[in-house]
Amino acid sequence: MMLNIDLNGRVILVLGGSRGIGAGITEMLCRAGATVTFTHRGQPQHQQRIDELPAAINGLPGSAMPVQADACDSAETQHVVQDIIGRHGRIDGLVCNVGQTLRRPVEEVTDESWRRFVDVNLSTSFYAIRAVLQHMAAAHYGRIVLIGSSAFYDGGGGAIDYAAAKSGLHGMMLYLVRNYARKGILTNIVHPCVIDTDLLREGYDSPRKIESLIGQIPVGRLGKPEDIAGVVAFLVSSYGDFICGQSILVDGGRTFF
Ligand SMILES: NC(=O)c1ccc[n+]([C@@H]2O[C@H](COP(=O)([O-])OP(=O)(O)OC[C@H]3O[C@@H](n4cnc5c(N)ncnc54)[C@H](OP(=O)(O)O)[C@@H]3O)[C@@H](O)[C@H]2O)c1
Repeated sequence: MMLNIDLNGRVILVLGGSRGIGAGITEMLCRAGATVTFTHRGQPQHQQRIDELPAAINGLPGSAMPVQADACDSAETQHVVQDIIGRHGRIDGLVCNVGQTLRRPVEEVTDESWRRFVDVNLSTSFYAIRAVLQHMAAAHYGRIVLIGSSAFYDGGGGAIDYAAAKSGLHGMMLYLVRNYARKGILTNIVHPCVIDTDLLREGYDSPRKIESLIGQIPVGRLGKPEDIAGVVAFLVSSYGDFICGQSILVDGGRTFF
């Protein structure tokens, strides 16, 4: 029998799926047969990608439904989860992918922008976890994957709020494993680094900068959203049934070598 990742019948929410890594995760989960709902903020500049998605996933075994909801608004996230429960009667997986950084020195981080970036990079996961936990606990089944950053290991990402918030995800994961693994809910973190997305290109905006970045990566190339998506699909599948509390760095070796 051929080895494959089978997510047929699995209902999964991806926070932040209109582009980049989140879009890659959404597509990969559909390839494995999952029923995916992904959120986005309705940014006009990303609308075309959302419109093109049905064609991209057409013919795949799974499905993907976009929902406009700001992950920083806990009531909106709660509503998205309720809607999924209403439509499918269950929620098996949650992928918290929303994140954003603004490179600047500590002196330029105002109280307001500190709160905003901690909200985007940490609280969004909390709001979604709080909304799904009771449903997963009732079913005695849940798979949660948090999307962190190599900033957890090296303080990178260009901003103190980003490094702090992404590191906070680690404590959240440990708490969840300690208190919810026995209830069938398994949590892990995938830490991306140097994945070729719009977010990365905003910081590395010239061929010279990209070339110099690739020079720092032992594997010799930038990562692709699929490099992250494959790990996520694995973790939410039955192959991840005995894995929890793990931080998995997907970086082509850049962070440590
Ligand atoms: N790329 C990398 O090398 C790298 C490295 C380390 C960590 N990461 C982490 O990986 C994750 C994805 O990164 P990426 O490079 O794919 O970023 P991206 O290209 O900026 O994509 C972010 C996604 O999140 C959505 N989003 C942002 N804020 C949102 C909100 N408040 N509510 C709902 N959706 C929201 C965006 O959609 P809309 O804008 O349409 O709302 C978009 O779909 C982030 O957590 C990032 O910190 C990436």
